[in-house]
Amino acid sequence: MRVAGIMSGTSLDGVDVALVDIDDDGFDTVGFHTVAYPEPLRAALLAVSNCETHTREISRLNFLLPEIYAEAFFDACKVAGIDPKSVDLIGCHGQTIFHESEPVEVLGRKVASTLQIGDGCVLAERTGVPVVSDFRPRDMAAGGKGAPLVPFVDYLLFRSDEFGRVALNIGGISNVTILPAGCTTDGVVAFDTGPGNMVMDQLAAKYSGGKKRCDEGGELALAGEVDGELLAELLEDEYYTRKPPKTAGREQYGAQFVDRLIAKGLSETDTMATATMLTAATVADGVYQFSDAEEGGIGEVIVSGGGVHNPALMRMLRAELADMEVVDASELGLDPDAKEAIAFAILAHETWHTRPNNLASATGARRGAVLGKLSR
Ligand SMILES: Nc1ncnc2c1ncn2[C@@H]1O[C@H](COP(=O)(O)OP(=O)(O)O)[C@@H](O)[C@H]1O
Ligand SMILES: [Mg+2]
Repeated sequence: MRVAGIMSGTSLDGVDVALVDIDDDGFDTVGFHTVAYPEPLRAALLAVSNCETHTREISRLNFLLPEIYAEAFFDACKVAGIDPKSVDLIGCHGQTIFHESEPVEVLGRKVASTLQIGDGCVLAERTGVPVVSDFRPRDMAAGGKGAPLVPFVDYLLFRSDEFGRVALNIGGISNVTILPAGCTTDGVVAFDTGPGNMVMDQLAAKYSGGKKRCDEGGELALAGEVDGELLAELLEDEYYTRKPPKTAGREQYGAQFVDRLIAKGLSETDTMATATMLTAATVADGVYQFSDAEEGGIGEVIVSGGGVHNPALMRMLRAELADMEVVDASELGLDPDAKEAIAFAILAHETWHTRPNNLASATGARRGAVLGKLSR
């Protein structure tokens, strides 16, 4: 079965499309293409992400986004030389604009909720391909955090009988999937460790007056020094010691967080170096706290997501995880930028076959559930 996975993450950098041939023995990635969000779209999405807005804006973007996804899908097919009609199914994550995995009291009831926009019906209509969308709500309805979902795929790809592995994805947020040697699905531990690129990206945008979207090549961070005092203060957040399952998002690391950092009055380079270290340190903390890495149980950390392109971050990460081999996913034959899009193709394939595709050990759900909504 040929499946397209369409991913747009919390970085709000754009949309990734992976074209994947999947059968019961495995998969083969036959195409991958990224389309950056145009700046006005990115700004419009930011303006409805975890903030006050008019419902009209959300509704409009919910219908606009699938137009963008459909174009990206056709572009991806064209680039790969693949006939769009040969694609049997699309798995589309959508754009998260709100995620509250800890229940709060609403009108006398406890409610946890999540909202990914980018309507599946519109995408199915534009592409002529059935779409699985909205993966997270079913897991949350079953008592899970609705995230992370990729560990289901990490387990299929990276579980090893010989040594423990950690799959680390550094997108807007960083998340890890800890796969102890010889583990079963019950033994998987997965959670968001804290920030990924999100804080660095916002600093880069501020310092460049909006010209830059990220600390390209880790340039600013490499020119600065980590401020130990500020780092220690940032690490005091109880989130980092809280037991998984747990999820993080723009709620924690958005504009307010960044304004607080800037208010410290450090130089731009030192602030960036400290923000970069915050990502590396919280990833390492998470791995050491919630795996048996200290006893040598983890052989390898496999890194994916845009963070692999930041040499300052990778250097800090290697130093913080010195007991382990830190490798780019490409060393295992997997494009680090494509991994999450591939994962959503594989998740959609499972949904199509009515097989449970959340890992209850990762999300905290009461049971395995078949995720997503199908637009035929
Ligand atoms: N050359 C680079 N230098 C520094 N950072 C980069 C580079 N390329 C990508 N990134 C980072 O990767 C991020 C995108 O990562 P991605 O995995 O797509 O995140 P998400 O899944 O949240 O969309 C960018 O916002 C940027 O911070
Ligand atoms: Mg992205």
